[in-house]
Amino acid sequence: MTSPVIPVYKPDLGGNERRYVLECLDSTWISSLGAFIPKFEAAVAAVTGARHAIAVCNGTVALHLALHCLDLGAGDEVIVPTFTYIASVNTIAQTGARPVFADARPSDWNIDPDDAARLITPRTKAILLVHLYGAACDMTALTALSARHGLHLVEDCAEALGTTREGRHVGTYGIAGTFSFFGN
Ligand SMILES: Cc1ncc(COP(=O)(O)O)c(C=O)c1O
Repeated sequence: MTSPVIPVYKPDLGGNERRYVLECLDSTWISSLGAFIPKFEAAVAAVTGARHAIAVCNGTVALHLALHCLDLGAGDEVIVPTFTYIASVNTIAQTGARPVFADARPSDWNIDPDDAARLITPRTKAILLVHLYGAACDMTALTALSARHGLHLVEDCAEALGTTREGRHVGTYGIAGTFSFFGN
């Protein structure tokens, strides 16, 4: 028996993408405004159930924006998993805060809530968790942990558009959830 092949990096462009790109070019609104951005934001809000959705140019900028809005700076610490894409770490460093690495769980490679709990200090301001490869983190443990210590919870959902947990889309548990349309 052969296993189905699921490509990691192959974009699925089987719909109206070409038509929309050409329509966008023809409209001359190739940045900032135009008809597609509000449509896109409304569609993302509808799919995720988020109250608001804001489009920026990629998942890295979305993370930076979310962290910037938390007023983080030198002396602050943000807990982040060891196993992630580098943007989750770089954007913490860009705010001046220090990334503090929590280990991954063997079961799903996502952040281990018990290790995150051990790393909390008076300087900890936030947990930036990452839902890897479409698998949701343990949101019961992580929301309880962040509430207990008064920490912001930011969800990097770059790899998890479409991931729900008990009917709730990831990215709607914390103060902000960020997504990416990178090819994988
Ligand atoms: C976990 C994770 N965070 C952030 C990003 C960054 O997203 P982008 O490539 O859209 O900047 C990626 C992209 O692959 C990612 O996998």
